Amino acid sequence: MRILVTAGPTREHLDDVRFLSNGATGRMGIEIALAAAQAGHDCVLVLGPTHLAPPDRPGIVVRRIVSAQDMLAACRAEWNACDALIATAAVADHRPAVRASGKPEKPRDAAVLELVPNPDILAELAAHKEHRRCVGFALQVDDAEARARAKLQRKNLDAVVLDGPSALGADRADFRLLTRSGETRWWPQTTKADVARELIAWLGG
Ligand code: CTP
Repeated sequence: MRILVTAGPTREHLDDVRFLSNGATGRMGIEIALAAAQAGHDCVLVLGPTHLAPPDRPGIVVRRIVSAQDMLAACRAEWNACDALIATAAVADHRPAVRASGKPEKPRDAAVLELVPNPDILAELAAHKEHRRCVGFALQVDDAEARARAKLQRKNLDAVVLDGPSALGADRADFRLLTRSGETRWWPQTTKADVARELIAWLGG
């Protein structure tokens, strides 16, 4: 298989030096790319800005991007040649309506920033998936399984990996795989590397 993986945060610039972002590191997606290559698959890793070193091994192509719009463009360019998508990226939900150039002086008083919604990369690619398979990640707090299953349906996915806030920045956490056919696999206190291997095994099975 050729597997497309999204990972890391996106940055949504207000101007040339300021941006909105989040604390994602891309670790889960990097582990998935490594597990995919280890299992003999080809992988395209579309990776946002992170301090982690991108994987450097045969079978993995890394495309570095900055914003959600960049990520969508990179994914669209790769999607036709891929068999599956695993979306782990923490895409910023919104971006500034206007991007200024340079570094404008800061406003002296309270300020309101106008934001516009970003595209949902996973939902957009999954809407035209045909024979290909799409897996999403869902970080849920309340009513976790029901919300993750609703996301699976809404975004036309084959499976969702459900985790909680404790997974952020952690080495191991509680994960659950929910599949479209109604199956649930429990991966309690499991490392991200092991989740990656289990997920690739499920996808290849
Ligand atoms: N995703 C994406 N593009 C976005 C937003 C999310 O590709 N603009 C993907 C993520 O990579 C992840 C899944 O969609 O695989 C998460 O879906 P989302 O609806 O954003 O869920 P949460 O982040 O859990 O947020 P919420 O439940 O608040 O909607």
